[in-house]
Amino acid sequence: MLASALDGLRLTIHVLAATIWVGGQFTLAGLVPTLRKSGEGVAAAAANAFAKFSWPAYALLIITGLWNVAAMNMNKTTSAWKVFLGIKITVVLLSGIAAFVHSRAKSKSQIATWGGISGVMAVASLTIGVFLAG
Ligand code: HEM
Repeated sequence: MLASALDGLRLTIHVLAATIWVGGQFTLAGLVPTLRKSGEGVAAAAANAFAKFSWPAYALLIITGLWNVAAMNMNKTTSAWKVFLGIKITVVLLSGIAAFVHSRAKSKSQIATWGGISGVMAVASLTIGVFLAG
């Protein structure tokens, strides 16, 4: 069965924002070695440019995520679904917190650690989202 126009819009915005938040982190991580070789401050400039897209995408994920929940008939969801939703909200928040700490970190090891945590939590959010969609 086809989704209604409103459901299609809601999920399209949610998934589009996920491609930016999750896919963008991987793309940037893949480009960093080349950017570092291109000159002092180039990688940091690219990271700052990405932040102008990634944080609005993260905000959109939370707004459309709440919209996803509001569109659900909670009486028809199982307890396992609700547990997954709780875990998802936790990993979404951890992904955002780790990305924020990563953006403020000074040492290379801290930048790598927090960036890695944010990426892993972002992939976990995406994976749980796919299961929630059923
Ligand atoms: C990093 C943040 C997030 C990512 C990467 C993400 C990713 C996804 C993805 C890929 C889907 C599957 C869409 C589909 O297959 O049609 C999904 C579904 C869903 N997400 Fe998220 N999401 C995020 C944040 C949130 C938040 C904050 C909430 C709740 C407050 C949420 C609630 C849901 C729900 C309920 C579904 C199922 C929607 C449905 O079937 O209609 N998501 N998410």
